[in-house]
Amino acid sequence: MKVAILNGSVYGVSEDVAQNAAKLLKTAGFDVMHNPRASLEQFLEFAPDALLAVTSTTGLGELPDNLQGLYASLRDQLPGAWRGLPGGVIGLGDSCYGDTFCSGGEQMHELFEELGVREVLPMLRLDASETINPDRDSEPWIADFIHALK
Ligand SMILES: Cc1cc2nc3c(=O)[nH]c(=O)nc-3n(C[C@H](O)[C@H](O)[C@H](O)COP(=O)(O)O)c2cc1C
Repeated sequence: MKVAILNGSVYGVSEDVAQNAAKLLKTAGFDVMHNPRASLEQFLEFAPDALLAVTSTTGLGELPDNLQGLYASLRDQLPGAWRGLPGGVIGLGDSCYGDTFCSGGEQMHELFEELGVREVLPMLRLDASETINPDRDSEPWIADFIHALK
């Protein structure tokens, strides 16, 4: 089973979380695509069976630059091939930003709804004000995600 990771990151924290998720998914026997700079065409060519979005929030509640292009292409094209696929979202943010806490993850959650991606778990929110080790704190959720895909 092939899992594509859609990853948005500014300073690399969510890229580390995504890399750790990729490692755990591979160990569990999945074929994983994790390339934070890949185009929609490259993702469609990979033909995933499941989708994992891992993204931080930046600016005034925006997606990181490296995910903006893919997000816009997905909203424009709404690829039918992804309809019905299982998925999940890990949002990284900081609760000190108040109303925009994890809004990057929320945007991916809404996009998954538009695409018809079926989230198998509620979104995981990793709060920079609460966690000093987001990789480790994401692992129980990733274990549940792996379990739900099998
Ligand atoms: C300039 C800036 C703006 C941010 N804006 C938000 C925000 O609106 N909402 C939020 O929840 N977190 C916000 N954050 C917190 C980051 O999302 C959080 O620190 C995250 O762990 C960074 O991960 P990254 O290195 O992968 O980008 C902001 C951080 C910075 C530096």
